[in-house]
Amino acid sequence: MIKLVNVKKEFKGVTVLQNVNCTFENGKTYAIIGSSGAGKSTLLRCINYLEKPTEGEVWHDDIEMMTHQNQLHEIREKCGMVFQNFNLFAHMRALDNVMFALKKVKKLSDDEAKKIATQRLSDVGLAHRLQNYPHQLSGGEKQRVAIARALAMEPKVMLFDEPTSALDPEMTQEVLKVMKGLNHTGMTIIIVTHEINFAKEVADEIIYMDKSEILEITETKTFFATPKSTRAKEFLANMI
Ligand SMILES: Nc1ncnc2c1ncn2[C@@H]1O[C@H](COP(=O)(O)OP(=O)(O)OP(=O)(O)O)[C@@H](O)[C@H]1O
Ligand SMILES: [Mg+2]
Repeated sequence: MIKLVNVKKEFKGVTVLQNVNCTFENGKTYAIIGSSGAGKSTLLRCINYLEKPTEGEVWHDDIEMMTHQNQLHEIREKCGMVFQNFNLFAHMRALDNVMFALKKVKKLSDDEAKKIATQRLSDVGLAHRLQNYPHQLSGGEKQRVAIARALAMEPKVMLFDEPTSALDPEMTQEVLKVMKGLNHTGMTIIIVTHEINFAKEVADEIIYMDKSEILEITETKTFFATPKSTRAKEFLANMI
């Protein structure tokens, strides 16, 4: 279980997150939605300490990150992350992108890493792209390599930050299909997305953010049927 308690984040004195209290239960899927600049990415990045909160507690099970920064590596290993712009290693083929952390972090042999990487790339429909460099792949393929790379590490938690916002509609569907396949496989999935229909379909709970704060954490059906805050109502009216 992941728990954020009174998390606050400032950048150079400007508060971009405040009063953040939320719990992510194991195996559930959460969608974080809200307007641009609301603090969604910052919240996501506080979960694996890519951003260090200015105040507050970030718990991964019974470990509190602020007081256990020596455990950062273990926590990062447990949390796979997928970014909007893929963040692949440009000079490595797809297979090597996936093998890299398996060898470097998990210390697997070349053969072991290759076996796992090949399998994960096949899982996302890229068995025919193992030897391609990122510049030879479409955006949707690049993002699927990034997902395969994260999954190869067998994370307990997957963090997605707008994984489809750089993609055209067709590629978006390819990637969303892969993500749907991860739903309720036992992993905790936290997705920042502007794909409202996708959030509606896959999330157990919606976290609605506005102006640095969480305004609602609500079971998905209830959120879409009866959003509580005026801001959420307006937001949904603008999206649909
Ligand atoms: N490293 C940084 N330094 C300074 N300000 C930052 C930094 N990262 C984010 N911010 C600011 O924090 C606020 C929240 O940013 P964040 O990226 O979390 O928003 P977001 O909800 O993810 O928006 P979007 O939907 O556009 O991605 C914004 O005003 C942004 O400019
Ligand atoms: Mg963002």
